[in-house]
Amino acid sequence: MSEKSIEILNKVVADEMSAVHQYMYFHFHCDDQGYDPISSLFEKTAIEEMIHVETAAKRILFLGGEVEMVSAHEVEKIHDVRKMLERAAAMEKESAHAYNVWANEASANADSATKRLLEDLVLDEERHFDQYNDEIDNIERFGEQYFALQSIERSKAAGSPGDGE
Ligand SMILES: [Fe+2]
Ligand SMILES: [Fe+2]
Repeated sequence: MSEKSIEILNKVVADEMSAVHQYMYFHFHCDDQGYDPISSLFEKTAIEEMIHVETAAKRILFLGGEVEMVSAHEVEKIHDVRKMLERAAAMEKESAHAYNVWANEASANADSATKRLLEDLVLDEERHFDQYNDEIDNIERFGEQYFALQSIERSKAAGSPGDGE
């Protein structure tokens, strides 16, 4: 029955909206602190989550529902980069788990298209988790040097306009 699927898909929209807001917030703050690679990872991931909102919204409309554009969580005002990455990795893990559970619920409701949509999202969220986790590993392996390197890269870019490397 499509009402159950619409309810699930609106929970997806809310989860994805939270991720968009949280990752954009992290993006601004990493940019402000001069950590360009991590800043752009948050930005790119936020854009992918926005596409997830769209995917779920289209399915809701197809099923004749209304898209509730709400966020599941408030933005957490974390400024420490390592803590940002840990929060982001935890969010991805939670999303992947929830989508797995909801995929089974959609399947039990004989809505295989919604099930497939959710399974595709799980693959993306697992990839996002890996990307954040790799950054946490880098910080663990290289410590403060990893951040210093990112700041140096920015100074070099600022000092050499054009492509002169
Ligand atoms: Fe997502
Ligand atoms: Fe994600």
